[in-house]
Amino acid sequence: MNHYDLVIKNAEIITAADHFRGDIAVCEGKIVAIAESLTETGNTRVIDAAGRRVTPGGVDAHCHLDQASLDGSVGADDFFTGTRSAACGGTTTVLPFAMQFKGQSLSDAVADYHRRAGGKACVDYSFHLIITDATPEVIAEIPQMVAQGYTSFKIYMTYDALKLSDSHILDVLEATRLSGAMAMIHAENDDCISWLTQRLKQQGKTAPRYHAQAHSAIGEREATHRAISLAELVDVPVLLVHVSSRAAIEQIHWARGQGINIFSETCPQYLFLTAEDLGIDDDFHGAKCICSPPPRDADSQQAVWTALANGTFSIFSSDHCPFNYDATGKLLHGEGASFDKVPNGIAGLETRLPLLMSEGVLQGRISPQRFVELTSTAPARLYGLYPRKGTIAVGSDADLVVWDCETPRVISNDELHSAADFTPYQGKTVNAWPAVTISGGKIVWQDQKFSGRAGEGVFLPAKAPFMRPGAV
Ligand code: URP
Ligand code: ZN
Ligand code: ZN
Repeated sequence: MNHYDLVIKNAEIITAADHFRGDIAVCEGKIVAIAESLTETGNTRVIDAAGRRVTPGGVDAHCHLDQASLDGSVGADDFFTGTRSAACGGTTTVLPFAMQFKGQSLSDAVADYHRRAGGKACVDYSFHLIITDATPEVIAEIPQMVAQGYTSFKIYMTYDALKLSDSHILDVLEATRLSGAMAMIHAENDDCISWLTQRLKQQGKTAPRYHAQAHSAIGEREATHRAISLAELVDVPVLLVHVSSRAAIEQIHWARGQGINIFSETCPQYLFLTAEDLGIDDDFHGAKCICSPPPRDADSQQAVWTALANGTFSIFSSDHCPFNYDATGKLLHGEGASFDKVPNGIAGLETRLPLLMSEGVLQGRISPQRFVELTSTAPARLYGLYPRKGTIAVGSDADLVVWDCETPRVISNDELHSAADFTPYQGKTVNAWPAVTISGGKIVWQDQKFSGRAGEGVFLPAKAPFMRPGAV
């Protein structure tokens, strides 16, 4: 008889393609058998998942952990607290960013982030690189980085310290084309943002809510179209990150209709928050929801739901970038500082999957298979981690979530596991939460308790992104 370390019995197994009832056996961190019925041996741990959905562990392809800042702010989560919160919310693989400082080589940037992550991560991780300085030397480094397992590169069209000119973007895109890597683009028109910011401040409009006006959907639409055009010019696929508005979605839809191979991502904040969450004039607490692009309006929320359901979006990530509501983070320049001085970003690693399972799957907006595709399979494929990650198959890592979709839960930051001192979803009721999260065959979350350990997560060198049109 085969020995199994763990058997999950009577599961409603959901992959991006299928839904069937069966047992899953795990040995030495891998899935070793899937069958209608499997027999445990004496010392096998058994989880009875009768009536419960079991999905692959989530792959969160966009989060910022212990990322160095350029303005003196300090992110709330390091690799321990961030990956702990990931595990408690059903995410078993994270892809944070290694950011290059201007003048720094990509290999030095990567070495720095390995130091930050080493011995701390509770779940497996891979890195995207942020290119802020596209010099010829840095462009020449891209093929070496790809060969070493860093196959995705984020570039910014805005933020003074990060943005690249169109011509530098073209240089990066040409390099990703030649090395088979993925470029991720933050698409907002920087001049529109600075022009609007200046006008708003001249009128004394400095409260957090004016962030949403400065980062207009028109500026996002223009930059999205420009990013698509630059990718078309170089003839290379790109992935547009954190898309927030109907106007930007329409550009992606148009591009795909033209046969331009564009991938795109959206995030929970564009489904569950609006610009109204940035508050009123005399309320600085709206700073808690400042992120870029900002949450929009009910019409854009609806467009984001539609694009999740109809396949326009390829992936659903958190863009977890938590800052505390104190002088290290949101209050870096004091309560009452102008909106453009507030660090951008919100927490979301732990709540990403429960929010989408509850409001997407249980409310009938997307199918369970599409949930798995958006949150696990497609990010694993697009960032070169499939089939080790992103599915339930013999030979894949035993990263699994057993879902409790019967117990309503009111989200409260006291019960979350990030080090952030607030969640933008405080008080929201969800009807789904992981009952058990298994990472590499080990139970890391069960009975509302975290049981993982720092250092149990390993670095995953990424293979080439899978970028054929329509493949994800
Ligand atoms: O506001 C956001 N999204 N902060 C994180 C940085 C980024 O651009 O993804
Ligand atoms: Zn961004
Ligand atoms: Zn981000």
